[in-house]
Amino acid sequence: MDCIRILGGKPLHGEIAISGAKNAALPLLAASLLTDETLTLSNLPHLADIASMAHLLRELGVEQNVREAPTGDASNWAGQVMELTAGQIKETTALYDLVRKMRASVLVLGPLLAREGEARVSLPGGCAIGTRPVDLHLQALEQLGAEIELETGYINARAPNGLHGGHVVFPMVTVGGTENILMASALAKGETIIANAAREPEVADLAHCLVAMGADITGIGTDTLRINGVERLHGAAYEVLPDRIEIGSYAVAAAITGGELLLKGARSELIQSTIDLLGRAGVGFEEEEKGLRVSRINGPLRGVDLMTEPFPGFPTDMQAQFMALMSVSEGASMVTETIFENRFMHVPELCRMGADINVHGASAIIRGVPSLSGAPVMATDLRASVSLVLAGLAAEGETLINRVYHLDRGYDRLEEKLAQCGAEIERMHGV
Ligand code: EPZ
Repeated sequence: MDCIRILGGKPLHGEIAISGAKNAALPLLAASLLTDETLTLSNLPHLADIASMAHLLRELGVEQNVREAPTGDASNWAGQVMELTAGQIKETTALYDLVRKMRASVLVLGPLLAREGEARVSLPGGCAIGTRPVDLHLQALEQLGAEIELETGYINARAPNGLHGGHVVFPMVTVGGTENILMASALAKGETIIANAAREPEVADLAHCLVAMGADITGIGTDTLRINGVERLHGAAYEVLPDRIEIGSYAVAAAITGGELLLKGARSELIQSTIDLLGRAGVGFEEEEKGLRVSRINGPLRGVDLMTEPFPGFPTDMQAQFMALMSVSEGASMVTETIFENRFMHVPELCRMGADINVHGASAIIRGVPSLSGAPVMATDLRASVSLVLAGLAAEGETLINRVYHLDRGYDRLEEKLAQCGAEIERMHGV
């Protein structure tokens, strides 16, 4: 297994190009199942999860051509361009072995039902951060006419007469649930209303792509989506939006090391709640033509409280990164995680580095310490692993982060991007 070695204490200075958003790319890839024409996606990030979804789609019969986007110059970290053509669906089963590795595989459920009238998708099972059921996806699909049975760990879904419109009211905001219903209803007969829909930018990105493919969707970006089903969808070309969690993660990297970074391609409207909170903690943001310039405003960082919420609130995917920053800020901070039930696994690892954090149920109290000390630590999930990288960048001495395969799921060439800005960071293979 690879690990990452960091020698901390070096302020970062330079430019980092933000890659396409993992959590937009995954549903966009699944949307290719909805048409027999070619969907061309650009600005796809180089990530393990993208490769997993592409693998699953190939198993289902989606032909793919992928190429690197032409880059203007070496610093331009362009993404991949992938042409996907589901001319004929060969298979409607998503096997456990694939789904267990990447929960977002469940996003093929809606498109397969809409296109083929049947789907057999393994239940994703839990993951490190929580049980993460998909009951709301299934209940909503039943409202669109799907017949669903759970059997030997699989979702057996059928819509022998096709899907029809419905009025879906999600009892809690679900990003994946909203995305599955968006894709399923695009080809359903009649109108679907999704109330209490997720408003994450990645959901809007999917809706905009579906419209480009000929779907009839209104209310994009709001919590009420109206979809008038159409007979068929056609091909389109679509560019994945920048990854707001990558933007936030590198903004914390600038702040926690006392440096200054220009985040190329970053758009503030994607991450305004994070910008506001980091601003209160003493981090400055300046909009520039090329992106967002981030630096610590003179003086020490200040402890501030946060509660994770659905968009436009503070994103749960930024909670671990923010906690790393608060661990070296002046004063105390209370972090409350309202989305997932077990998303504090970075805490014991940060404490090994000298952080002073106490967890009480869904909240954690962080008391800032003057500095952290490098140590061998263990990555447990995607965002916990990047919080350990951020802590390692600020810590005195050497940090060794094990199980970095978690990191590779969601960060495109992280150590190269950081090393370019002065970080002493390297990947050690097979340690
Ligand atoms: C998406 O997961 C993201 N993943 C997650 O990012 C992100 O943390 C999450 O949304 C919240 O923003 C992708 O987009 C691929 P949910 P998703 O359905 O869709 C409960 C990362 O680090 N729930 O909005 O699975 C669920 O247990 C990942 O990039 C049900 O109870 O999240 C959770 O507590 C981690 N029943 C809450 O809702 C359901 O049927 C929010 O889940 C569905 C969800």
